[in-house]
Amino acid sequence: NRRVTVRDLALAKERGERWPMLTAYDAMTASVLDEAGIPVLLVGDSAGNCHLGYETTVPVTLDQMTLLTAAVVRGTGRALVVADLPFGSYQEGEVQALRSATRLVKEAGAGAVKLEGGERSAGQIGLLVRSGIPVMAHIGLTPQSVHAMGYRVQGRGEEAADQLMRDAKAAQDAGAFAVVLEMVPASVAAQVTRALQVPTVGIGAGADCDAQVLVWTDMAGLTPGKLPRFVQRYADLRGALTDAARAYAEDVVSGAFPASEHSYE
Ligand code: KIV
Ligand code: NA
Repeated sequence: NRRVTVRDLALAKERGERWPMLTAYDAMTASVLDEAGIPVLLVGDSAGNCHLGYETTVPVTLDQMTLLTAAVVRGTGRALVVADLPFGSYQEGEVQALRSATRLVKEAGAGAVKLEGGERSAGQIGLLVRSGIPVMAHIGLTPQSVHAMGYRVQGRGEEAADQLMRDAKAAQDAGAFAVVLEMVPASVAAQVTRALQVPTVGIGAGADCDAQVLVWTDMAGLTPGKLPRFVQRYADLRGALTDAARAYAEDVVSGAFPASEHSYE
């Protein structure tokens, strides 16, 4: 296996090495990120917002995740590809979770799956791990519960911080190989990171997590509008693509494109 494995990520934590994760939803973008050396690519259900045009992640289906995951796997050769279990594909229980995760691994070729919840998803995590499917847990802000919790910082205050720690430990004890912490105070994320043997992956969770994840369209400046505080933009793809589309349109209208070098005798 020339791909990154969950074992490599466990070793990185032992060595104190941080690592980056990005989302990907299609083969071509994934190939760029893979060649850039991003070791872990997440086919996030943020595809709902960033790729499929929905308002939230809630409508995303297992069929859609299977299609997108297969594309990302085909576009990559080195990254560990982690696929999100979408809303409604694992909440019914352990057997449903196993059936759904099996599709992502067997049909789409994912190397691991991710699901939301710590204590509340411990049963599902346990069965998947015992069945040979590596699981990444996702706690703190869990967007599939947006209708119940909204989009705001989680784990603020002693009681909420204690619950976050219980969720992290429940996920680890059930066998999760890593735990995503989304939008939690940096000090709480640091405590959780110290308490866990497995790596934490932060998004809006401060600098002390073992790894970081961002949505690729946010990171690359393709997502329109105001972004959350935790995003850093590393490029202006939206600006670059807008300029390219306008220049092409102008050239077609003016007759400057195609020129003779683009034409056949
Ligand atoms: O779907 C997603 O992009 C995610 C990350 C933000 C962790 O779950
Ligand atoms: Na997600």
